[in-house]
Amino acid sequence: VTQEFDLYAVREEHELLRESVRALVESKIAPYAAAVDHDARYPQEAHDALHAADMAAIHIPEEYGGAGADALATCIVIEEVARACVSSSLIPAVNKLGTMPVILAGSEELKRRYLTPVARGEGMFSYALSEPEAGSDAGGMTTRAVPDGDGWRLNGVKRWITNAGVSDYYTVMAVTEPGIGTRGISAFVVEKADEGVSFGAPEKKLGIKGSPTREVYFDNVWIPGDRIIGEPGTGFKTAMRTLDHTRVTIAAQAVGVAQGALDYATQYVKERRQFGKPIAELQGVQFMLADMGMKLTAARQLTYTAAAKSERNDADLTYFGAAAKCFASDAAMEITTDAVQLLGGYGYTQDYPLERMMRDAKITQIYEGTNQVQRVVMARQLLKG
Ligand code: CAA
Repeated sequence: VTQEFDLYAVREEHELLRESVRALVESKIAPYAAAVDHDARYPQEAHDALHAADMAAIHIPEEYGGAGADALATCIVIEEVARACVSSSLIPAVNKLGTMPVILAGSEELKRRYLTPVARGEGMFSYALSEPEAGSDAGGMTTRAVPDGDGWRLNGVKRWITNAGVSDYYTVMAVTEPGIGTRGISAFVVEKADEGVSFGAPEKKLGIKGSPTREVYFDNVWIPGDRIIGEPGTGFKTAMRTLDHTRVTIAAQAVGVAQGALDYATQYVKERRQFGKPIAELQGVQFMLADMGMKLTAARQLTYTAAAKSERNDADLTYFGAAAKCFASDAAMEITTDAVQLLGGYGYTQDYPLERMMRDAKITQIYEGTNQVQRVVMARQLLKG
């Protein structure tokens, strides 16, 4: 793990991208964020707007018809969408998560067949690793793929699958050789249209209510042999390497929601008057704002540094991806909680966006590996070095 200061140069084109995403978010996504949360409905407006602007899967390389955005640009899109609506930010984030195994380890034919429609906005991709009894211990999965003719027969259940039912394509990790642990796991592309694929009811969640989370069932699903991602037995490594890259996008999501909360609270304390003056003049309030800003700055810098590592596919990305996700999500939880506090009773009501932001922030400490798992990952990397 290198500790040198490795700030990604945020170039002019990244800032121009940020401005254009922000404008899109303000006009087409932010106005629906409260209703999407309240009604726990899919953010169709965000879906349409992101697809129309080619921002739903901006990371897909140009050779497959995508915009070829680098890891930082992808983070900026996710961050700016999450600033207004975390549920909507899962559209670009999960498209990256689902396609990353194909990008990292798929055959040329698989890349052409599955990345191109996602780049064109003709389909979305989800990632299916977790199971009811295999969450943090992802290697303990029991979903099984057995050779059958010139393909595989798949049986099992995946749980906590983001955008399940909406996505047309799924990266599914399954045991192909039992008894040898994670080296017996392989990754496959499964289509929603494959016979035997079905979905559970949407989970009723604390936050990210606009993003459907469901179980996915595989009942004797036959998958053609050419849909395996990489060699048999490499699926767990591909799944872990994918998370190294995409934990950075969860960090970006956390930075986005924290920025949204800080912006709102900062404006509020300048307007809210108590004891004959704006509460922004009270030192106790100023100290809270300062701490929120300081944590957010540190979280963003670490996130962008990790994005640089992701773009270069650096060997120490495992450490930086975990560190960015863990630090930024803990910061987002603290910042959104303090933002609610600064609004007092108003912050606690649905008339203001902060209680939603606080509920949405919570998931960033849990998914793509709990922050306890991130600490395990970081410690292992430090001890290895
Ligand atoms: N890159 C490449 N290879 C890796 C790797 C990485 N980052 N991490 C592990 N591996 C390899 C190891 O080198 C090892 O290979 P060998 O057999 O050749 O030695 C193999 O994978 C097994 O590794 P470990 O022994 O470290 O595995 P483990 O069983 O101890 O598990 C763990 C490690 C870090 C706890 C892992 O299980 C983990 O990350 N758990 C959390 C899972 C997770 O993040 N789930 C999130 C689901 S996705 C989600 O939430 C998405 C959503 O919908 C938004």
